[in-house]
Amino acid sequence: MKPTDLRGILQYIPRFRDRIFVIAIDGAIIADDNFANILLDVAVLRSLNINVVIVHGASAQIQWLADQDKLTPSNVDGTGITDASTLRLAVTVSNQLTHRLLEGLASCDLRGVTSNGIVAYPLGIIQGVDHLFTGKVEKVDVEMFQSLLQQGFIPVVPPLGFDGEGKTYRVNSDSVAVALAVALKAAKIIYVTTHDQFMIQGQVVRQILAAELETLLKTGKADLPEGLRSKAAHAVMACQARIQRVHVINGKVDEGLLHEVFSNEGIGTLIYANEYAQIRPAKKKDIRHIMQLTKKSMQSEELMKRTRANLEKKLNDYFIYEIDRNVVGCVALHVYPDQAKGELAFLCVSPSHEDQGIGRKMIQFVEAKARESGLSQLIVLSTQSFTYFQSKGGFTEGTTEDLPPKRREKYEQSGRKSKILVKPLK
Ligand SMILES: CC(C)(COP(=O)(O)OP(=O)(O)OC[C@H]1O[C@@H](n2cnc3c(N)ncnc32)[C@H](O)[C@@H]1OP(=O)(O)O)[C@@H](O)C(=O)NCCC(=O)NCCS
Repeated sequence: MKPTDLRGILQYIPRFRDRIFVIAIDGAIIADDNFANILLDVAVLRSLNINVVIVHGASAQIQWLADQDKLTPSNVDGTGITDASTLRLAVTVSNQLTHRLLEGLASCDLRGVTSNGIVAYPLGIIQGVDHLFTGKVEKVDVEMFQSLLQQGFIPVVPPLGFDGEGKTYRVNSDSVAVALAVALKAAKIIYVTTHDQFMIQGQVVRQILAAELETLLKTGKADLPEGLRSKAAHAVMACQARIQRVHVINGKVDEGLLHEVFSNEGIGTLIYANEYAQIRPAKKKDIRHIMQLTKKSMQSEELMKRTRANLEKKLNDYFIYEIDRNVVGCVALHVYPDQAKGELAFLCVSPSHEDQGIGRKMIQFVEAKARESGLSQLIVLSTQSFTYFQSKGGFTEGTTEDLPPKRREKYEQSGRKSKILVKPLK
């Protein structure tokens, strides 16, 4: 889907309208050429009545400024010890970044406002070491943020916290995003970083269950770069605190933010609290998604061509696999009651969700349905995936004799010369 495909975006709107997205932007991205495009994406979200809170980091700029002044900051990302001079750097840099954000929002006709709504206390003495001006978020002034959002403002939140005595603390922006999202019951957090999708043990991770990521982090198997490890750990914390979705995207990619939020095949990594997946009968409104899902496989002749009208006519035979109300797979069961046979057909899984066992789950689902209907044999016709059905589905090669007469006739007419595979159900 192209982000500019308005119809594609509109299907997500009922779910997100009036909800809150917390967008946490790394300082390095605010200095990037693509920053203006991110603000345009924020403007699109606002125009769709999605409320936005922007949190920003500052570590890249703290490092730059320190390098210029030949200083050695005691920490740059708000997690170590913050001495007085590092706090001064953090305040200077944060004010500049907040200003850039407010300026950028103004250029998109968006009303931004900054606040002292993050209440922080000192992190304190840990293992005998005083962390000085490093703070931890104690509380979020929910009333303040809610009233700002209700009035259509975009709160811009720096990585600084304030206590009741007028003191300022350096806080880590990833943790500020989690605290805000939890306090405001946000629909999602989007971390905008300088990194591409998570790569764990040589595999690109498009989406991952928070519990799975937590195990990988705990066992040291999540070999992520430093910048992403913090996002991963905070994403897990957020999901444990009932934030359903956390996205981590590369802010240098144009239209990346919209693409991530409004498509099944985003550019980043999605960490999700629980998987809402189901196989259900297809409905008329699903036809468009099924056609989109299967288009390439029909073109490459992996699947036999079907038109919208074909699907509509036999809609009761079709089932979809959906995750979070997104269609990621489909399959059909055509029944030949006279021969007590069923044909498993039109099995397709979205490339973004391949190799996760979805195809197998749909085969098992169709098998169960066929058994429920008292069928004694399941057949599949396949041109390019026959080994899949043999090795993963337990089918064996059959002959045209296995096809019900009506189906045999169609088979001979089609000229596709598909392999015929069979599986007894009794
Ligand atoms: C074939 C298809 C349905 C598999 O879906 P899936 O959800 O990725 O499959 P699963 O996760 O259940 O299984 C993945 C395994 O099957 C293997 N596999 C995937 N496609 C295969 C194919 N065409 N031939 C042989 N093996 C295949 C994978 O390598 C993987 O093997 P592994 O578990 O040993 O690593 C999917 O690739 C697809 O939609 N293909 C295009 C349409 C098509 O050909 N449909 C079948 C015609 S009815």
